[in-house]
Amino acid sequence: MQNYQDILAEILIEADVLQIRVAELGAQISADYQGEDLLLICILRGGVPFMVDLSRNITVPHMMDFMAVSSYGVGRRESSGSARVSLDLTMDIRDRNVVLVEDIVDSGHTIAAVLQMLGTRQPKTLKVCALLDKPERREAHVPVDYLGFTIPNKFVFGYGLDLDEYYRNLPFVGVVDLDKYNQKPA
Ligand code: IMP
Ligand code: MG
Repeated sequence: MQNYQDILAEILIEADVLQIRVAELGAQISADYQGEDLLLICILRGGVPFMVDLSRNITVPHMMDFMAVSSYGVGRRESSGSARVSLDLTMDIRDRNVVLVEDIVDSGHTIAAVLQMLGTRQPKTLKVCALLDKPERREAHVPVDYLGFTIPNKFVFGYGLDLDEYYRNLPFVGVVDLDKYNQKPA
């Protein structure tokens, strides 16, 4: 696998800028859930770094759970109209305040499917917290209650977002140079 320096077109969001925004989101969630019980649900795998940092900035007591969703699509870099839960929660969300934590809302199909499924389990409240939003690509209307950054229609990686499962560890969000990236597109 190539080093990230060889496929990076530009850094879109620097690490310190990400951390400042994540701290702001944590403060906002802490204020909104003061005196309330809270459950953060991380959408694997892209939501992991974001949820860990967000959680450390949330001052109200809260729990965490995890779920994974696979989308069926033409290419691995796009999701199609349908999404399937491939790993379900271990906790019962009934009567709980739930915040879904996701790396990016792109077409919106993933979050739409998760919201629909979790909605049937009768949580007390159900909100979405996404680090990134690419509104130009939206196909399914989904509410994003807490948002880090709106970004242009470019393929990005780092801070949870992957390129063929690599580079999720990078502390910044970068734009990939698709001419230099050697992996075959799906
Ligand atoms: P949606 O269902 O189209 O909203 O897709 C959301 C999922 O697609 C995200 O959870 C990401 O895993 C993936 N995704 C969308 N855009 C990007 C990107 O620019 N880089 C990496 N992953 C992306
Ligand atoms: Mg992904």
